[in-house]
Amino acid sequence: MLYEAAGPEPGEPDPGPSDWIAEGIPALYLDGWGRSGDIAVVAETAERALVGAAWFRLYFEHAHGWGFVDEQTPELAIAVVEAFRRRGVGRALLENLIARAREARFGALSLSTLENTSGARLYESLGFRRVGEFEELAVMRMDLTQA
Ligand SMILES: CC(C)(COP(=O)(O)OP(=O)(O)OC[C@H]1O[C@@H](n2cnc3c(N)ncnc32)[C@H](O)[C@@H]1OP(=O)(O)O)[C@@H](O)C(=O)NCCC(=O)NCCS
Repeated sequence: MLYEAAGPEPGEPDPGPSDWIAEGIPALYLDGWGRSGDIAVVAETAERALVGAAWFRLYFEHAHGWGFVDEQTPELAIAVVEAFRRRGVGRALLENLIARAREARFGALSLSTLENTSGARLYESLGFRRVGEFEELAVMRMDLTQA
């Protein structure tokens, strides 16, 4: 799901995840999953096949990914497998994850995204706002302290 979230866009060359693993990206986003602040939701078919996931975790000034804003703000990632996109699965995952973040008393969430994508439109419609950029990605933040 992480590779679905941050790997090549559909139609782009797909070299597979080995370079990516060597760069430590999966380790940063997933190793030791279950530490304080880690929360995930998944979407499954009636047959329990995994079709999507959204999750967040806290990162550090010295070790963080593309959508980092500060050490108090979890960064989320989301992916829906291509065949199940454009049916509302992504929105449902995010609404659920945002509710979990509020329950856990986080004041904000962040993420990074390519601009002018389906994801970017979805995040904006849920209340995320652009607060910066990281290389070619927009960094977005959602304030959870407002009703
Ligand atoms: C971004 C992503 C998670 C969105 O997931 P999704 O399940 O397609 O999201 P939704 O279905 O809720 O919404 C996407 C679009 O489908 C539309 N849609 C939702 N239900 C629909 C339906 N029943 N019929 C037609 N369209 C529908 C939405 O209006 C939205 O339209 P838009 O792109 O024109 O704004 C998915 O595209 C993805 O995995 N992308 C690759 C990974 C990625 O970019 N991850 C983000 C970086 S962390």
